[in-house]
Amino acid sequence: MKNLVVLSGAGMSAESGISTFRDAGGLWDKYPVEQVATPEGYARNPELVIRFYNERRRQLLDVAPNAGHLGIADLEKEYQVTVVTQNVDNLHERAGSTQVIHLHGELTKVCSSRDPYNPHFVKELKTEEYEVKLGDKAGDGSQLRPFIVWFGEAVPEIETAIKYVEKADIFVIIGTSMNVYPAAGLLHYVPREAEVYLIDPKPVDTHIVRPIHVIRKGASEGVKELKTLLAAQADGPTSTEHNAVKHKL
Ligand code: APR
Repeated sequence: MKNLVVLSGAGMSAESGISTFRDAGGLWDKYPVEQVATPEGYARNPELVIRFYNERRRQLLDVAPNAGHLGIADLEKEYQVTVVTQNVDNLHERAGSTQVIHLHGELTKVCSSRDPYNPHFVKELKTEEYEVKLGDKAGDGSQLRPFIVWFGEAVPEIETAIKYVEKADIFVIIGTSMNVYPAAGLLHYVPREAEVYLIDPKPVDTHIVRPIHVIRKGASEGVKELKTLLAAQADGPTSTEHNAVKHKL
């Protein structure tokens, strides 16, 4: 089975009703990023930050995976699929994807404020625990904080992601503006001979020179088209080239 790696961003979940960050009316228009997505913002006003993520977490109960998530999960029938996502929602998992690497953390988890990366103090929340309060304690006695990688923090999962990306036969970018590193830099680890696809309704600057199949569509329609293209390739990627060669002979 070929290795297919997906790098997804906020656009992947847009059709599920979760707003993106940088599009007009996106999350960072409504909430100052330095208040709700930096360690400094959390230190200044933990209550506001905890409330912000409680709202995001509650939203998970109202949304469902879209056809894009479901299409990616379905690719596991034909490919060894690894999803590397910048999203903190759980829609890839709920769609049925079995191998999901969350670069920027997970809404459904909380951790220690003192030692956020210590796995002993990372806890998966049951839905009835989604409302975290100031005063709720992690295993080490510090305030429970959202298990989210904020701006300026390390991205521990990047090393694992790189290992999979380096073995990709097919790399698919979906719904990310490729503005945030190290996630955007993963494209540099994709083997030269791999096929790269990019699904996004808007132009995206990938900061790299290499052939990319651009599918200028939203996630649901885009994944459908991706599957058609992959199926055509599996049936005989070089059939047109063969014809050309035959012609020359
Ligand atoms: N289908 C696919 N892509 C879409 C759709 C859609 N229906 N709607 C919008 N998009 C695209 C936008 O055109 C844009 O390129 O999704 C992308 C969203 O970009 P951003 O809002 O910048 O989100 P993302 O790239 O995931 O941000 C990266 O930055 O804010 C931090 O930590 C946060 O994980 C996030 C990271």
